[in-house]
Amino acid sequence: MVAATAKKEVECILAARDLHKHYRMGEEDLHVLAGVEIAVKPGEWVAVLGASGSGKSTLLHLLGGLDRPDQGQVWFDGQEVFRLRGGRLDRYRNQHVGFVFQFYHLLPELTALENVLIGAMVGTTMWGWPLISREKRQQATDLLEQLGLGERLRHRPNKLSGGERQRVAIARALVNNPDVLLADEPTGNLDQKTGQQILEVLQSLHRAGQSIVMVTHDTRIAAAADRQVTLEGGRLRA
Ligand SMILES: Nc1ncnc2c1ncn2[C@@H]1O[C@H](COP(=O)(O)OP(=O)(O)OP(=O)(O)O)[C@@H](O)[C@H]1O
Ligand SMILES: [Mg+2]
Repeated sequence: MVAATAKKEVECILAARDLHKHYRMGEEDLHVLAGVEIAVKPGEWVAVLGASGSGKSTLLHLLGGLDRPDQGQVWFDGQEVFRLRGGRLDRYRNQHVGFVFQFYHLLPELTALENVLIGAMVGTTMWGWPLISREKRQQATDLLEQLGLGERLRHRPNKLSGGERQRVAIARALVNNPDVLLADEPTGNLDQKTGQQILEVLQSLHRAGQSIVMVTHDTRIAAAADRQVTLEGGRLRA
């Protein structure tokens, strides 16, 4: 039975089974996720829709291993993520998934290039870093150039527009060549034109084979994905 389940999960790059998450605030018990099921195939782009407060960010954090479910499992490439031991969970977070946060989370004192390099440094030892830093610096520079930020490498976030910050955040998420990109409202704080540019970035990543799970409340943005699912009442429906 376990082997059969594992085989089924291998066909997906990322899957969640019966995910539950509660938040307890004093007396109140908020059952945000109440049995979420999702299966993402390699190269697939899935959009997760849902009202504000429905639990979309919570779900994405669980998929990325950033927070633990109260019940249920997350599977990545045939392995159960929350059973990974001895640094393997960190490796999952740092190397197999790339996270674009809802509010960018760029470090204000670092330049665009340094913010991207931070993503590459996580999970690298102090001794290993000098060996790979030149290569990673080049890769980070290439990514920022591909995202149209070649002229902005040394700008700090407060000298960048919202769309530029979001592109830096995308570059940071991509710098370790993740198997799955998890993007939380990647166009949420942007005007329509800038949002369209970010959407085009995601479309070109998707054409290159990137698996993507994207949270949005915008049905127009969601329409670009292969498939849309909606989070409602703690569960996902197609
Ligand atoms: N750490 C926390 N402690 C307590 N409650 C939380 C916590 N994080 C989220 N919540 C609550 O859980 C619910 C879901 O939050 P979540 O951020 O996942 O929603 P969302 O769908 O991403 O919303 P939005 O579209 O506004 O970003 C909300 O009611 C929120 O207030
Ligand atoms: Mg959210």
